[in-house]
Amino acid sequence: MTLPQEAIVRQFLLLLLVAFCVGCGANQPPQVDPNDSVMVLAQKNYDTYCAHCHGIAGGGQPDGTGPGTHEFTRSRGYHVVPKHDSSSDTWQHPDQLLFETIKFGTHSPLNLYVMSPYGETLDDDAIWGLIAYMKLFWTPQQREHQANLTRQFAEIRDDWEEYNLDIYLTPTAETPSS
Ligand code: HEC
Repeated sequence: MTLPQEAIVRQFLLLLLVAFCVGCGANQPPQVDPNDSVMVLAQKNYDTYCAHCHGIAGGGQPDGTGPGTHEFTRSRGYHVVPKHDSSSDTWQHPDQLLFETIKFGTHSPLNLYVMSPYGETLDDDAIWGLIAYMKLFWTPQQREHQANLTRQFAEIRDDWEEYNLDIYLTPTAETPSS
């Protein structure tokens, strides 16, 4: 059974439109209040220093096979850049760990892709601004859950400001080279 040509074309255009809308919705950066100078600056900082790796809306590296995509990166033995959006697990980390990750950088010993430290480029206020901005990528429930994690972490580690995760973040002289 064949559909009339016109109907096929109409269905195709509709599919294209749906695919486009799904795609564009996921890639929109969050709206910030133009009068909120902290968030305006945070968005600018995120777009300048983070978006080229983590995605303008926290979507991480794009899927697909071209340069910069998951497959391309994996095929060279590197870990892909994680997402920060509601489909990721960034919201499962308390503020304190996000702060330290951004300030000191991170490099899990299990993968081959280092994130540089931003403590020299961005002051602490700017880093807190980035964290507040990244929360706009999450659902209200995720934000609430993450706020609880942050409170719990503060209770357990009230000295967290001196608590430096450097030992996990920077390969040291003691790290075996092979
Ligand atoms: C050169 C690419 C690159 C840039 C630029 C970059 N990151 Fe990353 N980021 C990574 C990679 C790769 C990881 C994962 C490292 C690992 O797991 O060892 C990561 C991890 C993170 C994590 C931990 C995520 C999680 O859910 O555990 C946070 C938070 C983060 N980055 C925030 C930022 C922010 C904020 C900026 C901008 C100031 C930024 N990153 C810039 C590559 C980048």
